[in-house]
Amino acid sequence: MHRVRNFVSERISEVPPSGIRRFFDIAATMDDVISLGIGEPDFDTPEPIVQAGMAALKRGETHYSSNSGLMELRRAIAEHLDRMYGQTYNPVSEILVTVGVSEALYLALAATLDPGDEVIIPHPCFVSYAPEVTFAGGTPVIVPTTVENDFQVTAEDVAAAITPRTKALLIGYPNNPTGAVMSQERLNEIATVAKQHDLLVISDEIYDRLVYGVEHVCFPSLPGMYERTVLLQGFSKAYAMTGWRIGYAAAPADILGMIRKVHQYTIMCAPTVSQYAALAALREGEPYVQEMTAEYDRRRRLIVDGMNEIGLKCFEPQGAFYAFPSIEITGMDGNTFAETLLNEEKVAVVPGSAFGEAGEGFVRCSYATAYEKIEEALERLHRFVRRHG
Ligand SMILES: Cc1ncc(COP(=O)(O)O)c(C=O)c1O
Repeated sequence: MHRVRNFVSERISEVPPSGIRRFFDIAATMDDVISLGIGEPDFDTPEPIVQAGMAALKRGETHYSSNSGLMELRRAIAEHLDRMYGQTYNPVSEILVTVGVSEALYLALAATLDPGDEVIIPHPCFVSYAPEVTFAGGTPVIVPTTVENDFQVTAEDVAAAITPRTKALLIGYPNNPTGAVMSQERLNEIATVAKQHDLLVISDEIYDRLVYGVEHVCFPSLPGMYERTVLLQGFSKAYAMTGWRIGYAAAPADILGMIRKVHQYTIMCAPTVSQYAALAALREGEPYVQEMTAEYDRRRRLIVDGMNEIGLKCFEPQGAFYAFPSIEITGMDGNTFAETLLNEEKVAVVPGSAFGEAGEGFVRCSYATAYEKIEEALERLHRFVRRHG
């Protein structure tokens, strides 16, 4: 065999593998594991949505759709954003249907970054943000958030990270992994900084419907923000549709046109059958969203109160479906805690450091898990903390 040179891109190989997977791989080899590790709804997709997908297949909707996505779906998305947030987008030129928020995020970065452009990312955050910035040729600039600030990024911290190369700010609230929601006041301050420094804001609002006792503020709806924001949205979380791989980007036509160009040449179109299912989600999914959100809220109360009682001090999450307790009482770092807990008590959690260094000292516990399982997991955690606290 001929020796070949190293064909692998330096840029890609330097990105570390996701810290989440390792624990899932270990957990998968064990019996009787309660997983609080998973970042997706435990509910199946609501029946009318599944039926709509099946009906589309039966009708022969097995072809490509328009690159931008089905016109009917884009119209429904535009109506939805208008109804929910009073934010108007032109469905012809300002909305693109994508393969989940994952694709929309990559497209937004690929369409806006030139090599070396810096993107400010508050940490801890969804594991894909920094790697995707790197893949798109940009440079991630991390701004840590703290529990003292309720894991909300502050305008001062963003301003302090700005350099002449800063192009964009990438935020994701309600937040994975902390469950933090940005207050309107803090968002307004961020908007002021974005305007002052002429920044693009990429706002991942995939958890917008999963908020508890607070209102979600849609970032582009803030004064002066529409023209500098790419809104990323999806169906995975609110409608329990992770496997359908469907989401969208919304932005002013000039930006969206470039986003569409990348999509056109790399993906062609989002799966047509999933687009019909997403249409049904917008038309018929609301009662199910309400029902699932109410159940997440019930579990949220259980897990947050339970953690605090055990001594794992838990910040009050107001969105998404994650609790992010401090493990300080055990004196362990996140990796040791997660590994020891899995081995000794068969409960899977994700070390907070998997979401950036700012997550060290915390673990992410998903409550997209049955109520009874959370109760059992709390009992196991209680035993664990008694031994190690
Ligand atoms: C904050 C955040 N953004 C985006 C995604 C990806 O979602 P999608 O299934 O739409 O690609 C996730 C999934 O966990 C997430 O937590």
